Amino acid sequence: MEKLIYLDNAATSWPKPDSVYKFMTDFYRGCGVNPGRSGFDKAIEAGNLVEELRQRLTRFFGGDETNPERLCFGYNATDALNLIIAGLLSEGDHVVTTNLEHNSVIRPINQLVRDKNVEATFVPFNDQGFIDPEDISNAIKSNTKLVIVNHGSNVLGTVQPIKEIGKICHEKNVLFAIDSAQTAGMVPINMKDMNIDVLAFTGHKSLMGSTGIGGLCVRKHVEIAHTRAGGTGVRSAFPFHLDEYPYRMEYGTPNVVGIASLWAGQEWIKEQGGVEKIHAQEMRLAQKLLDGFNKIDGVITYCCDSLENHLSAITINVDGLEAGDVGIMLDVDYDIATRTGLHCAPLVHKQLDLVKIHGGVRFAIGPFNTEAHIDKAIEAIAEIAQRSKDMKTKKASIANK
Ligand code: ALA
Repeated sequence: MEKLIYLDNAATSWPKPDSVYKFMTDFYRGCGVNPGRSGFDKAIEAGNLVEELRQRLTRFFGGDETNPERLCFGYNATDALNLIIAGLLSEGDHVVTTNLEHNSVIRPINQLVRDKNVEATFVPFNDQGFIDPEDISNAIKSNTKLVIVNHGSNVLGTVQPIKEIGKICHEKNVLFAIDSAQTAGMVPINMKDMNIDVLAFTGHKSLMGSTGIGGLCVRKHVEIAHTRAGGTGVRSAFPFHLDEYPYRMEYGTPNVVGIASLWAGQEWIKEQGGVEKIHAQEMRLAQKLLDGFNKIDGVITYCCDSLENHLSAITINVDGLEAGDVGIMLDVDYDIATRTGLHCAPLVHKQLDLVKIHGGVRFAIGPFNTEAHIDKAIEAIAEIAQRSKDMKTKKASIANK
């Protein structure tokens, strides 16, 4: 039996459903050829899986179902966000984003600010970790081309009011993109209803696929310039990269085994009764974890007075200890895996003034966690908090001698 209690599902979900491992292996063994490149039967079969998954994911994200070619595959959300940011912004443009972003948004934007004369505004979150749509509205200027928002914070777990932000963007004629790395497969998304123009996703978190697969879904009124070029498998004599989707956003041989994993992930989500059902179970455990933490003296939680509009990730610190040390104790003494540090989202920690204590300790619950895991995590943190208190008392008594 696996001894490790894995609570790092916001980094990647693990384990995957058995059906995902099986389908990946079977598909790769039986049909792992290059899809869309050749005309023999297996190449067509592999190509069919890719095209069917485009349709399926377009429906899943509430994109334009008549344009499944606008669901393009890449490596992960970072890859997709780089394509979106570099392909939509040019010299003199302004972009509005937030302090909740991951480095997959912060760094590509900062590089454009440094190298291409693009302007950027980072909107702070409120004391509960939410972006006020009014603040986005106030940040939009005449040269604002794009608003890009992290749908669910990988540090705080807060889910942003995307529909309201999207409405403002559309009223102001500004494109609206979201980073759904933490939310795709965890909370329902409908691009049309939520006024989203472009969505970046990754396959290896709540979509239950493997690492190395992700992509973007682009609504039909949006044109993203291609910033890379390469093989597409079609019209090989054309000397430049193709403008038509999906080729416009895809380069080279796709990750067919990753695509197979995503296909099986979609099947698994359906078998569980859908995203809402999986999420409800995870949130029940998240509430139990939070209630447990709230009872421990010396535990500091961030932006979770309530778990409404929240993902199943909770970040804490233990008074008197560095986040990294708590992570080591959880791992070494209790076999509990968490993620500590700045979580590639430094502006969240900067706004919360956590950089000098090196961030926080994140507990991220997934579909395979149990009540027993949560009980053990609470028990472990209670003991660690007690140890920290004992150390302080000991220090004080030594100093008084
Ligand atoms: N962005 C991922 C995380 O939050 C890797 O851990």
